[in-house]
Amino acid sequence: MSTPEETAPYGTGPAAPAGDAKPVKKIRTHHLREMKERGERFSMLTAYEQYAAATFDEAGIEVLLVGDSASNNVYGNETSLPVTVEELLPLTRAVSRSVSRALVVGDLPFGSYQASAEQAYLTAARFMKEGGAHCVKLEGGVEMAPQIEKLSQGGIPVMAHIGFTPQSEHALGGYRVQGRGETGDRVLEDALAIQEAGAFAVVMEMVPGETAARITSELVIPTIGIGAGPECDGQVLVWQDAFGLRQGRMARFVKQYADVHDVMLRAARAYDADVKAGTFPGPEHTF
Ligand code: KIV
Repeated sequence: MSTPEETAPYGTGPAAPAGDAKPVKKIRTHHLREMKERGERFSMLTAYEQYAAATFDEAGIEVLLVGDSASNNVYGNETSLPVTVEELLPLTRAVSRSVSRALVVGDLPFGSYQASAEQAYLTAARFMKEGGAHCVKLEGGVEMAPQIEKLSQGGIPVMAHIGFTPQSEHALGGYRVQGRGETGDRVLEDALAIQEAGAFAVVMEMVPGETAARITSELVIPTIGIGAGPECDGQVLVWQDAFGLRQGRMARFVKQYADVHDVMLRAARAYDADVKAGTFPGPEHTF
């Protein structure tokens, strides 16, 4: 049974769910599972600060991930490896303060959870307490089962991340599709292990569409694809890639929905020209 808080009407942004489902005021982990059961898709984007978070929330995006991809989209690093807990916590706090509906996922950075289930719990608890995250994400399959179990039993919902896991780029030999041919069984094993350990959802990155479809139909928890084909229950993209703030070569799985870089470039050039011509500020901007 839904509570009144959970069934309050939408604002102007989010689309109404299909069928008899009631509109949801705050997305909880169980809503994603219910959407899967109803055959409804959901969307997830990264967000690292206030205005992007509030805009995506208004648009009706169900899940916002404060990804460790902040490393290469906010902090100027080449990969996700260098970013730290101390760098991600303030971004997580900014995003969680700026949404009213979306589920906010804090992403545990490299080295902050792999050593033990205890280390994972202590780090994840900081994301919940200091970052205001509603759940956390960590990378890994079978080998992460103890961590997922510890967090789930300790009140911290876990989204797992399998297939290509960017934090293991060097161990995996670079950016490569995972689970082709017979190795598809290994990705399925990972998926089953993390479900058994208590994860509420799983991201699958760069996994062949057929493998992802098979895993999606075998799991009861929702799957979220990034380069994993159209059969996943949800999809995720890094917003700077999808909306064209980042320039340069994109992965094949990225679809570009806007050219934010171009909009900002034109605005910056127009401002610069006005300042240099002495036409800004005008009388209307002057006290
Ligand atoms: O950090 C991130 O942006 C991610 C997505 C690629 C799923 O983990």
